[in-house]
Order: sequence, then structure tokens, then C-alpha cells
Amino acid sequence: MFQVNDNYLKLPGSYLFSTIAKKVNAYSKANPDKKVIRLGIGDVTLPIAPAIIDAFHGAVDEMGKAETFRGYAPDLGYEFLRNAIAENDYKARGCDIEADEIFISDGAKCDSGNIQEIFSVDNRIAVCDPVYPVYVDTNVMAGRAGTYDARKGTWSNVIYMPCLEENDFVPELPEETPDIIYLCFPNNPTGAAVTKERLQEWVDYANRTGAAIIYDAAYEAYISQEGVPHTIYECEGARTCAIELRSFSKNAGFTGVRLGFTVIPKELKCGDVSLHSLWARRHGTKYNGAPYIVQRAGEAVYSRAGQTQIREQVAYYMNNAKYILEGLKEAGYTVSGGINAPYIWLKAPNGMTSWEFFDYLLENANVVGTPGSGFGPSGETYFRLTAFGSYENTVAAVDRIKKL
Ligand SMILES: Cc1ncc(COP(=O)(O)O)c(C=O)c1O
Repeated sequence: MFQVNDNYLKLPGSYLFSTIAKKVNAYSKANPDKKVIRLGIGDVTLPIAPAIIDAFHGAVDEMGKAETFRGYAPDLGYEFLRNAIAENDYKARGCDIEADEIFISDGAKCDSGNIQEIFSVDNRIAVCDPVYPVYVDTNVMAGRAGTYDARKGTWSNVIYMPCLEENDFVPELPEETPDIIYLCFPNNPTGAAVTKERLQEWVDYANRTGAAIIYDAAYEAYISQEGVPHTIYECEGARTCAIELRSFSKNAGFTGVRLGFTVIPKELKCGDVSLHSLWARRHGTKYNGAPYIVQRAGEAVYSRAGQTQIREQVAYYMNNAKYILEGLKEAGYTVSGGINAPYIWLKAPNGMTSWEFFDYLLENANVVGTPGSGFGPSGETYFRLTAFGSYENTVAAVDRIKKL
């Protein structure tokens, strides 16, 4: 008789977004005259830029002609896209990353969930708290997390690194030594960025202790300040300890299209075994490549017109972020993020918990955000707003909050 992977049974229900949806639906039903503004979800709203759409059309037409039709894509991605990434995202920033160290995928969610497969089940992970939940849940599924403490909301075998106001939402080096360290900057949910100096400390620590860093840079395009690294490979020694994950979702609006990539430098080894060759083996066995038309569209992101157009989109969202940040500050809230990331992280006022503040905001301002406790215990008194809405809705939401 078959048995299930009982690690899945250990996972607590993921109630965050379904609870939010239920509460919002109930409120809207009881108050049909109220216009609820949603600044909760992390999905983009602007359509894909014209230069990228043109590339899609061109590639679709190629698929309809015998001489240009393409079947299975190369396992690790088309050369044209890997070269564009290596040149624009790495070499142009002085980072030594070759095209054959880049693995094209259908996005950072899958890669951040799958990457743990190439590590021993005995390895111990460290995560930021609060955290993008995929890192922890996929390690639970693999049997690496231990047992769940429902009261604390933590796993016995996971090292949690609190990210709070006191440390500018960048974790301190942990007291216990992890084998795998997940870092995400600019951060979801806190919107915090890391300086190159502080990231260098992490790279040095990982090289010193033999840990691997999994660096999620899905929000790289939102960095606006000098001194904030766009890639972990700006740090010396990162080639021997760091894997980087990137996405086309938030810079180019590909959340529904799906495209991302993982970088694994060839020097990243455990003894004689290179993680690059393990991931190549996994990718080749379990994945048949992102679609040709999507990879051509990804290439167009790096064209001159593509770059101009996606920068305008990022600027649009960051103008929303500025409005939220400044408006909430004026209203007396303690706020952070929103400068190098499309997320604003605010402290719930008057000692409210994050769910109490959620209800308060929904009922009194008809604005929906995300309770910080959904991202980990250290998010308990915090709340996330996103800059991905329309400018008009963002202004209306902030103005309502200011009037409370
Ligand atoms: C930190 C982080 N990593 C990865 C992703 C997922 O990216 P993708 O759309 O490429 O799967 C998200 C999406 O919200 C995210 O916040």
C-alpha cells in the first residue's frame, strides 16, 4: 500500500491570503457601497512593455514556419538569453559570471523551492524572520525542518534570524552555525536593502564556516541607492559560497508569463563535487526548459527600448512607494522599505497586532494590506503595503489612512 510523504502533513495550513480574501469578501458583502482598495498582493498591474510584446509576436511567428520552428529548448536555456544576462546583469557590473553558469527557468519561486534538493537532508537552514514562506515550506516538505511549534510559529531545526528595526531589517550573523543561509535583498516583505559592506560580512562568514548562501534578488530592479549591491557577486569571494536567484516577474511584468534564472558559479563546491554540476543534472532530468517565445521576450528586456520601457514601469511603482512612505510618515506611522523595493513595512500603531490592524484598516479606511505575522513571528506587529497598485488607488488609499 502506498504511503504519503508525511513531511507534507507537518505543514500548517497556509491561511494568510485565503483568510484575507474571506475577510475582504465578507466586508464587501456587508458594505456594498464601500470601495475597497487592495494594496496587499505582490503582483504587478502594468501591462508588458511594447518592445517585449514585439519580441513575443516575432517569436510566435517563427514557431509557425518550418524553417524557424523550435522544439525542446536546450535544458539550461538558449545561448542568446544566457549571453544577454551574463553581459547586462553581471559583466556590466564588473562581476565575473559566465553565460554557462546561468540556468534559465520559469521563475524564482520554483528555483527557490527546488534548489534545496541538491543539498543533504541533514543540512540545517537559516532564514530571515519575517521571510518569503517558500524557503521554509520547501525544506519542511524535504524533511529538513524538524517539528513545528504552533504557539511560536517556528520549526525546531530552522535557525531564525530576526529582522527588526534595531538591525535595519538585516539579520545579524547567527549564533548557531547553519549549512544553508537564505537571504533575500531587496527584501520581501520588509522592503529593506542590504549594503555591500554588510553583505560582504555574510559572504566572508559563509566562506569561513563552509555554508552556502542562497541569495534571492528577485527585486533587484528596484534598487535606487548607491552602495546597495545589485548582485551578491559584487562581494569578494561570493563565487565560492553563493547561488543567486533572479526573476523577470517584478522588473518586466512576467508574473503570468514565467521566466527567471539561477546562477551557480563553477567554483562553488563541496569537496570535489560542484553544485553547478548537480543543478545541471537536476535541471536536465526534471525540467524541459522555459518556452522559446518567452526566452525571446526575456532577451528583449535587455534591448535598449526594453530597458527604457521597463525602467519607466519600475519608476511608476516606485512613485507609488514614495507616496505611501511619505504619506504614512506624515500621518505619524513608523515606516520603512519603499526606497529600494516596492514594499512598505509599517509598525501597527497603538500596540495592535498585525491582524488587529488589518481589521482596523479594512473597516475604517477600506484598505487591504498584508499582516506581517503571515511572514513569521517577528512580523507580528508589522504590516505590509505594496506599491504595485495604480497611482490613483494608491493616492486614494493613503489619503484615507491619513484621515483616520
Ligand atoms: C522574494 C521572492 N522571491 C521569488 C518570488 C517569485 O518570483 P517568480 O514570479 O519569478 O516565481 C517572489 C514573488 O513574490 C518573491 O517575493
